[in-house]
Amino acid sequence: MTPPATGICVVAPAKVNLTLHVTARRDDGYHLLESLVVFASVLDRISLEPAETFSLVVSGPQSHHLELLDPEDNIALRAARAMARLANHKDGVRILLEKNIPVSGGMGGGSTDAAAVLHGLMRLWSFRPSRTLLQELALVLGADVPVCLRGRSTIMEGIGDSLRDAPPLPGFWLVLANPGVAISTPLVFQTRSGAFLPAVPLTDAPRSAEDLAAQLRERRNDLTAAAISLAPAVGECLATLTGLPGCLLARMSGSGATCWGLFATEYEAQTAARTVHAAKPEWWVAPAAVLHSVDPFALANRPPLSR
Ligand code: C5P
Repeated sequence: MTPPATGICVVAPAKVNLTLHVTARRDDGYHLLESLVVFASVLDRISLEPAETFSLVVSGPQSHHLELLDPEDNIALRAARAMARLANHKDGVRILLEKNIPVSGGMGGGSTDAAAVLHGLMRLWSFRPSRTLLQELALVLGADVPVCLRGRSTIMEGIGDSLRDAPPLPGFWLVLANPGVAISTPLVFQTRSGAFLPAVPLTDAPRSAEDLAAQLRERRNDLTAAAISLAPAVGECLATLTGLPGCLLARMSGSGATCWGLFATEYEAQTAARTVHAAKPEWWVAPAAVLHSVDPFALANRPPLSR
């Protein structure tokens, strides 16, 4: 994406839940969570250009779901309008969004776009709200927006509003695979059934990818059964990833349908992704590095990772 002459480019990395413990349901319908969240090198790219009004143009390989919707409903545009209100900024902004993260895929695609727009506009408008105001604005946009704004490996609690650093994580790679289904997050939460189980936070820093996989195996994504009941292809996706050479563990991210396989090396992840692509050409699949700390501006100037 070419930077606009007067504007700014920013990237929005995919959010991946390595664990997702759902521990209770609040009276307002929201659920209390405990989740280990990391960011992966699958990036939406966003350009922000000063303009008199607010507008959004979506392009890219995953734009098809969004093109059918009213841009006014897009969370990236809602984030821009909300930030303008907070900053008392009178003009608008033209947003170009290159969508590479599958929509409604459990990777926080909309939330990470919104967070990137907030980062971009703070820089474009030289506006720095207090941490509290920024956090409040992010949470109103969506429960995953605060963690996306933080952009580093995080333990997320509450409904997504309580955030702290994850223990240091070792180097590892992911293969992300989506069996071509978009699942509604509210529907997955509604479909979840059974007693709530306690969270099992990751407390010790894993020493290696193998150790991380062993620790994650003892933990859960509590939305998996609900997602499989709504989209049985999620079960097939998990089985496919689990069977790949070098796959240390496979789980679902967020409310699905995207699943991840964990690998110790880039070579194994790249090879596994090619294997899945050859066997399931209709699925979306990507090898991904884990970005332990995201600089959305520095990454915007880097060419995309080769697939
Ligand atoms: O906040 P956001 O719009 O991303 O959430 C989408 C939906 O997911 C909510 O309307 C709610 O049904 C469900 N959700 C939940 N508990 C959370 C986060 C989301 O029940 N902590």
